[in-house]
Amino acid sequence: MTTQAPKTTSRRNFLGLAFGGALALLAAQFTVATLKFLKPISRAGFGGQVYAGKVEEFAINSVNRILAGRFYITRTEDGLLALWQRCPHLGCAVPWVAEEGRFHCPCHGSIFNEVGEVLAGPSPRPLDTFPVTVRSGEVWVDTARPTPRANFDPSQITGA
Ligand code: FES
Repeated sequence: MTTQAPKTTSRRNFLGLAFGGALALLAAQFTVATLKFLKPISRAGFGGQVYAGKVEEFAINSVNRILAGRFYITRTEDGLLALWQRCPHLGCAVPWVAEEGRFHCPCHGSIFNEVGEVLAGPSPRPLDTFPVTVRSGEVWVDTARPTPRANFDPSQITGA
């Protein structure tokens, strides 16, 4: 009888330690998941500040898709313009068709030039823009603030 008491206590201790360890692991996983959730998503992708690349990565007179931000960077001789890929007509994603040198909406045929002006189709206005900031040669785009516009104006371009 006296020899079994330590065995039972040992089993209890083991189960207690195992349970405590499992709880600690669960708490750690919860903490990591919570921290990831609370980390500003806006800094990592669409809906906030999106890093588009270094200025020199954008050739003059080019249109560049930034997948993570759902926008295009058009670089003109005067600077940079960020165009939301969302069609102002009914919201389809508008691809840049390099062979045409145009944005061409696949849904109802709206066509936009490299600065987002409507050339044809039902779109009521040019592609919306996002504010562009250049910091230490890095291009950042604020995708939280799409800016509808009636026309293209050179003042919409951010110098780079
Ligand atoms: S959604 Fe682009 S033309 Fe209709």
